[in-house]
Amino acid sequence: MKITPKDQIKPKGLKGISDQQLEYHFETHYKGYVNKINEIWDKQQTTDRSKANQNFSDFRELKVEESFNWMGAVLHELYFENIKDGQGTQRGTKLNQMIEESFGSFEKWKEDFKACGVALRGWAILVYDLSSNRLMNNGLDAHNSYGFLNAIPLLVLDVYEHAYYTDYGPKRASYIDAFFENINWNVVNGRLVTTLKSASP
Ligand SMILES: [Fe+2]
Repeated sequence: MKITPKDQIKPKGLKGISDQQLEYHFETHYKGYVNKINEIWDKQQTTDRSKANQNFSDFRELKVEESFNWMGAVLHELYFENIKDGQGTQRGTKLNQMIEESFGSFEKWKEDFKACGVALRGWAILVYDLSSNRLMNNGLDAHNSYGFLNAIPLLVLDVYEHAYYTDYGPKRASYIDAFFENINWNVVNGRLVTTLKSASP
C-alpha cells in the first residue's frame, strides 16, 4: 500500500493562522508522515514475521511506528480539511442537537474542547462514539496515545507546537481561539451525516 499527499486540502488565507505557519506545517510535518508511512509499509513487505518479539524485533518496531505515522498522516488530513475554506459556514441542526445532548450546550462543549487542547500534548478531537451514540471530546498526547477506539473523528485540532509557534510562540490558547474562527462546519456536518448513515442499523 502507498499513499500520496492530499495537496488539495492545503489551507490558506485563514484568520489568525498565517500562510507561512500553514506552509511549514503542511509541507514539512504532514508530508513527513506520508513519506514515513510509505517507507514503513514498504519494509513490512519483507520483514521476517517468524522473528516477531514483544521485547524487541523489527516487526514490533514497524507496527509501533506504523500506528504513529499512519495516525499522523490521517489526523493531519482531517485537521487541514476541517479548517480549509471554513469562514462563514454554520453548524447544522443535527450537529447542534447532538452537541447539546452530549455536552449541555455549545459553549460547554467549546470550553471542554479548548481545555482538551490546552491539557493534552498533541490533539483535541470531537468524536462520535459508536458504543454510546453520543459525542465526546478525546484528547491525545500523540497520534497513537489515548485515542478512543470505536469512535469517529468529526473535528480535529492539532495542538503540537509546530502547529502554532510561528504565529503565537508559547500562546497555545490564542491559537486555539483562532482555530475556532476557521472551522469549516460544512465538513464537520458532512462527517456527522456520513457517520450516522453508517452507524444506523
Ligand atoms: Fe501537526
